Amino acid sequence: MKAPRPDGKVRIVPSLLAADFAAVRQSWAPLAAAGADWASVDVMDGHFVPNLSFGPDLVSALKAKPGAPFIDSHLMVTDPAAYAPVFAAAGSDWVTFHLEACPRPKALIKKLKDSGVAVGVAIKPKTPAAGLLKLLPDIDLALVMTVEPGFGGQSFIPEMLPKLRELREAIDRLGRRCWLQVDGGVNDKWVAPAAAAGGDSLVAGSAVFKAADPAAAWKRLTAAAQEAFDKEWGAALTPTLSRSRERAG
Ligand code: DX5
Repeated sequence: MKAPRPDGKVRIVPSLLAADFAAVRQSWAPLAAAGADWASVDVMDGHFVPNLSFGPDLVSALKAKPGAPFIDSHLMVTDPAAYAPVFAAAGSDWVTFHLEACPRPKALIKKLKDSGVAVGVAIKPKTPAAGLLKLLPDIDLALVMTVEPGFGGQSFIPEMLPKLRELREAIDRLGRRCWLQVDGGVNDKWVAPAAAAGGDSLVAGSAVFKAADPAAAWKRLTAAAQEAFDKEWGAALTPTLSRSRERAG
């Protein structure tokens, strides 16, 4: 199945970085039962960020089992041109690379799209929106980091909210069906502001997997995000989006 396109339904995307590394599939099962269908795999190379995490074999192992989630592989790596195709081949539904690590993003975007994978581009907190705005016509997902990449469990940086709003306004103005993904520190306090600023794909690691009841936390965050998003953007949904929302029910 192809990666889902934006449909006006806000997604809380559990980050497997916060799952039990010794039992990732078992960690995912209750979330799938609650309705989660999209997981984020944070790939870290120890160079772009001072941490090491997953390789492509995690993606292919998860995808090899029935009921696998959609997976976005978020590459926090110094050489995305080398590794993005590897994660695409492993079965990622989206491969997201950092603008800061790719001097010629359009060439890599084209190469990835030609391979059939959906493409995301991410920016760190200190990187302005301008570079991502230019790429909106070419990408399927724009990722605004709301923490410095490298570790889960950090605090949400509220100064990123205007950057999110600027990108949401541009996506809607262009009529682009491009996810606006938020990653870092999304929890009960920040889920509504992040969705109100226009995020429709909110990555949450600690707030989900470290909760006493991860499935209940996912449901609570999803409801709060949808309410905040609809209040701010419900009427402004681009015609394409509103039609697809009607279809999605
Ligand atoms: C940072 C990671 C984290 C992770 C989410 O590089 O990308 O943001 O996905 O972790 P929490 O939700 O715990 O901040």
